[in-house]
Amino acid sequence: MPDKLRVGIIGAGRWSKRAHIPGWVRSDLCDLVVICDQDEELAKDAAKQFGVPEVMTDAEAMIRREDIDVVDVCTRDEHGESHEPLTALAIECGKHVLVEKPVAADFHRVKELSDLAKSKGLKTKVGLTFRYAPAVQYMFDLVREGKIGTPWLFNGYEQNSQWLNPWYPQDKRLFKEYPTELEKVGTDPDPRNIEVASLEGYGAPTIDIGLELINDDIDKVVCAMANLVKERRRYNVDDHLERINWDDADMWIGTTKKGYLFSMQSSFVTVGNYPGITAWIYGDKGALKATLITDPETKAIQKLEYADGWVTPDADAAAVKYHEIEIPDSYWNPGHQPDDEWDTAFYGCLVQNFLEEIVSGGEKNEGNFEQSARVQELINAATLSHREERWVHLPL
Ligand SMILES: NC(=O)c1ccc[n+]([C@@H]2O[C@H](COP(=O)([O-])OP(=O)(O)OC[C@H]3O[C@@H](n4cnc5c(N)ncnc54)[C@H](O)[C@@H]3O)[C@@H](O)[C@H]2O)c1
Repeated sequence: MPDKLRVGIIGAGRWSKRAHIPGWVRSDLCDLVVICDQDEELAKDAAKQFGVPEVMTDAEAMIRREDIDVVDVCTRDEHGESHEPLTALAIECGKHVLVEKPVAADFHRVKELSDLAKSKGLKTKVGLTFRYAPAVQYMFDLVREGKIGTPWLFNGYEQNSQWLNPWYPQDKRLFKEYPTELEKVGTDPDPRNIEVASLEGYGAPTIDIGLELINDDIDKVVCAMANLVKERRRYNVDDHLERINWDDADMWIGTTKKGYLFSMQSSFVTVGNYPGITAWIYGDKGALKATLITDPETKAIQKLEYADGWVTPDADAAAVKYHEIEIPDSYWNPGHQPDDEWDTAFYGCLVQNFLEEIVSGGEKNEGNFEQSARVQELINAATLSHREERWVHLPL
């Protein structure tokens, strides 16, 4: 392995510039050597902004390069056309891969890619951004150390205002001309045939946190998905609203094999600040609550609270009080800057975590494709539950 890992990124869009690229260029463990985007101007602009030496427009050619160790797939995948094939090729070519969610819409395919990567000794990572927030990593450690006893109930909320405005396009890509070749989503108005959206986009990283905290497999789920804002602009080039039946809000509950409880709500038409996550875990000796919601006044991006409360004959309900816990600075990546906003801040931790896992050569590989397949299986099960109006048992 060279002194520093050599990284190539595909996608020079908004999220790439806000989250991925700052993470790579601020780490001492790697060099970001090429930015690839089919839109060459975007790639050039990003390369100039971040001091990256080379740009390309052909993603396959970039993946096949022998001087690249790590491939980062940060394309937009409204219709499943890019993440899965680019990721599969990268693994076949022997690269460690970071990819935005979903790796693939069907969890079986995510598992296949996970197995393929493992068989080649490669590390994988999915953009499950929020598990890397210091508040959440510290929360994981406290739960593992027994701070709340046995975790037995998880509540996850993902609520932000991103699509409250009906003129905000359903498809976030910036088109210069009307994309006539794309299949339109959400055209079937039947509530059972609603298009999966919030559950996958904003639900996934919160489900991921919950699975880690509850430390057990979910054995059944029941879910309701809703389309609250019914008329919306489809593409940025449209001058009208149309009926688009997609999941802009959903709720589901599940039970675990040991009989514990798990609940989720995700929506992007619920009034709330970015990134909008609350993860609350209760155990038999206390509870922890992580809040990743940017405070508009203080600009604080995270908060962790703890309350003890033991299951004993003299438990005193009136004495329970949540108080804020200080999060050790050691949970930040070395390139973190105090005024970073949540996207740059949390993704910097993700990127550093991945690089350390690769460099260490050990077994550790959190938030990998295997974990993403567990999350995706729950998303697939929750969707099936909604469509068939019944409890769905796992494994699928
Ligand atoms: N993890 C998170 O919290 C989080 C947050 C926001 C966005 N995202 C994800 O990040 C991804 C990128 O989002 P974005 O807002 O930057 O999208 P974007 O549309 O702004 O940028 C994507 C870029 O990829 C390029 N591209 C697409 N296919 C390509 C290909 N085959 N070869 C070369 N270039 C290609 C496009 O030209 C575009 O410039 C999406 O999957 C999105 O869901 C994740």
